[in-house]
Amino acid sequence: MKARVGIESITPYQGGKPIEEVQRELGLYDIVKLASNENPLGPSPIAVEAMQQAVKQVHLYPDGNGYYLKQDLSHHLGLEPDRLILGNGSNEVLQIIGETFISPNDEVIYSESAFVVYRLVATICGAKSVVTPMQGYDHDIEAMIAAITERTKVIFIANPNNPTGTMVTAAQAQKLMDYVPEHVLVVFDEAYGEYINRADYPQTLPYVQQVRNVVISRTFSKVYGLAGMRIGYGIAPPHLIELMNRVRQPFNCNLVAQAAAQAALSDLDYVEQSRKTNAQEKQKLYQVLTALGIQYIPSEGNFIMLNLNQSGEAVAQRLLQQGIIVRPITGYGFPNSIRVTIGTRRQNVRFIETLTAIL
Ligand SMILES: Cc1ncc(COP(=O)(O)O)c(C=O)c1O
Repeated sequence: MKARVGIESITPYQGGKPIEEVQRELGLYDIVKLASNENPLGPSPIAVEAMQQAVKQVHLYPDGNGYYLKQDLSHHLGLEPDRLILGNGSNEVLQIIGETFISPNDEVIYSESAFVVYRLVATICGAKSVVTPMQGYDHDIEAMIAAITERTKVIFIANPNNPTGTMVTAAQAQKLMDYVPEHVLVVFDEAYGEYINRADYPQTLPYVQQVRNVVISRTFSKVYGLAGMRIGYGIAPPHLIELMNRVRQPFNCNLVAQAAAQAALSDLDYVEQSRKTNAQEKQKLYQVLTALGIQYIPSEGNFIMLNLNQSGEAVAQRLLQQGIIVRPITGYGFPNSIRVTIGTRRQNVRFIETLTAIL
């Protein structure tokens, strides 16, 4: 049986190695996972309590429309619930965008070294990927604008980008929005947006309120500490949400995840603590890396890309043998780099000590 055109060219998405897999394969027990940009503080206790309560209801289907979570998000964001769609992780939101808007032979623009799922979505939809070069470690917005044609359907912007941690500024986003024609949808992927504390980070919600062709994707996987529950959301003008809801699977977000997300959203202390820990530990890591002479790319997210002057795959493998899981990023065009999630102080110290010994 032959798969649809393009499917055979896809390499399946490779996530960070699960802790259990490393335990099984290497017989190690004290594992530090810094490979998938998860929240090192664990889930919010309030979310855990909400999940325990919700579990008692799992003989019932969830609310397919996620009414209560959308109500809470609507208050949190200050916009109407009809501008929201929930996803099984924001990855699903990205896939729903593709399945709703991208036809075979459309063109999809994204940057080189941008989050890999954009390429997967474009290929699955039979579209042509138009990959614009990076400007250093940044998205080159001018190049993305120059790449727009009559056939362009979607532009994906990872903001901040994974794995480089770099950010498109408000001025750059505005420039793109000024140029982009009516037949093009701009997707701002803000999976790590909550970590950013910069005045020049784009405020994208007004584009939705101005009924521009924009979808913003966000997630509960990162600062809200719920990666394992798989829940994220999209924000877009109502007519785009209405189209995406035709494609969305019924009951795509499970009942426990919806309860967890509501609770996590309400736990302001946990979110603040997560941001604070990340900011402090990031500065600490910067200092140590500088002292060690290891080049890093300053990051707006909860992860840092390190340039090592030697094979990132090999260094990652040696770290793995010491029970530390990080991410080689050869597939993003950086064979001599790794990406490491910012962990707790204890995790970071162990990572740095082991890395130093290896290098
Ligand atoms: C830039 C970016 N977007 C989206 C996602 C998807 O996250 P999730 O599906 O867990 O919401 C990730 C995950 O690492 C990411 O790095």
